[in-house]
Amino acid sequence: MADARVTVHTEAGIDEIAPEMHGHFSEHLGRCVYDGLWTADGAGDGEFREDVVSLLADLEIPVLRWPGGCFADDYHWEDGVGPQEDRPRRRNLFWAQGRDEIPEESNRFGTDEFLQLCERIGTEPYLAANIGSGDPQEAADWVEYCNYDGNTELADRRRENGHEEPYGVRYWGLGNENWGCGGQMTPEQYAREYRRYATYVGSMDNLMLDHDLELIACGFEGHEWNRRFMEEIGHTAWGVDFPLDHLTLHHYYGREMTVADADEDQYDRFLAEALEMDEHIERIAAAINAVATTRDIGVIIDEWGAWHLDAVASNGLEQPGTVLDALSAAAVLDVFNHHSDVMTMSNIAQTVNVLQCLVETDGDDAWARPTYHVFDLYAPHKGNEAVRTSVDTPARELEDDELPLVGASASIDGDGTYVTVTNLDCREGHTVEVRLEGAAPADGDVDANVLFAEHDPDVEVDADNADEFGAEELDVSIDDDGTLTADLAPSTVAGISVR
Ligand code: AHR
Repeated sequence: MADARVTVHTEAGIDEIAPEMHGHFSEHLGRCVYDGLWTADGAGDGEFREDVVSLLADLEIPVLRWPGGCFADDYHWEDGVGPQEDRPRRRNLFWAQGRDEIPEESNRFGTDEFLQLCERIGTEPYLAANIGSGDPQEAADWVEYCNYDGNTELADRRRENGHEEPYGVRYWGLGNENWGCGGQMTPEQYAREYRRYATYVGSMDNLMLDHDLELIACGFEGHEWNRRFMEEIGHTAWGVDFPLDHLTLHHYYGREMTVADADEDQYDRFLAEALEMDEHIERIAAAINAVATTRDIGVIIDEWGAWHLDAVASNGLEQPGTVLDALSAAAVLDVFNHHSDVMTMSNIAQTVNVLQCLVETDGDDAWARPTYHVFDLYAPHKGNEAVRTSVDTPARELEDDELPLVGASASIDGDGTYVTVTNLDCREGHTVEVRLEGAAPADGDVDANVLFAEHDPDVEVDADNADEFGAEELDVSIDDDGTLTADLAPSTVAGISVR
């Protein structure tokens, strides 16, 4: 007897799930770049870590944000181009605290290395320009270096550095957390700075025939800030017809706990906190819509994920990769699907070795974490049209919140429907019915997989057990009326494809 029911309203389309919703974020922080994407820090030129490149290429990452994070507003891009031996070594202002390894920035990995990485793994780059300590000229020059096809000194410099053709970088972030590490600005102050930068960076668009720049402003989790930013942004001679294509915020959760020491009550609270993403998206969309419209200005969550007590600046924000964290990623990806009408991108933090990374390295080993498998399981949603789902689920009462124990999202393409279902209950399994309105699938139409059925939520991945976390076939029974039923073990994620 099912205790949770998912109804997929196949005729109630929301919008296309932008493939960019499965994007990633990497920063010059700890071992994300050096010992993550790239090998050497100081001695020698270094090279891409081919094991990491290959794992990332397999995942078909749509977009990758770089170089920060807080690092972005202390980064001067010209330090990182040209012959590697000539590049200056700099302090890493935000991420060197307490570290005795890799405390400085060698600039061995710079713009050309990053953009070549993106070309190799088939990813759209998203560059975050320095607003906090830079100037508009520097930002516009960066666009020119990357994208201009004429005969200027900067375009020629790119050619000399090995890239004849413009890279065509489309996404340009103007600043990062400018309410905090990006200059501690008020929303009004940031809006004015943003306008000044956007005037010069945005005007570069007129000089490039083949690519439209998309400009991105960094908002805040506190939504009054976003409302004030949007109001100030609108105060121009042009009204709101201004180069702002996306507004972002960052949502991390689980900072009060380490997974290894936490109990099931804390798991529940952690997952409920992850699901607060839903409210954040609604509130930032409302802040945009009060002044402009989310059809013109998309919502990006350009940093998100689990951030636990283990991850501190002195260890390069490293924390174990667990099934619990992966479960939270599935819950959040479902939330993103529900908001595909307003969302244009998201970037989980951070790609390799840092926070809720997907790939981890140790010496010569590199492996996929459980969260990697969640992204893989959710990949069929990319580019589909999201449709409404209703979930009738048991819930657990928390002190001042409630955790719905079963969640789901669904999308359709020309060939059928893809449904993801999460059992967020770390204590018990649930029997879940899935019904697709207007469809009556039969045997042979359904293909289903499940993650983590054999694992406890706090199990940690390492080089030795990493290959145990991939998807396994899920048994689904089909009633005469086409209703699908599956038993989901505690803390599991399922992907059900109906053709
Ligand atoms: O991802 C780590 C840090 O978290 C980023 O540098 C910053 O943007 C955020 O506060």
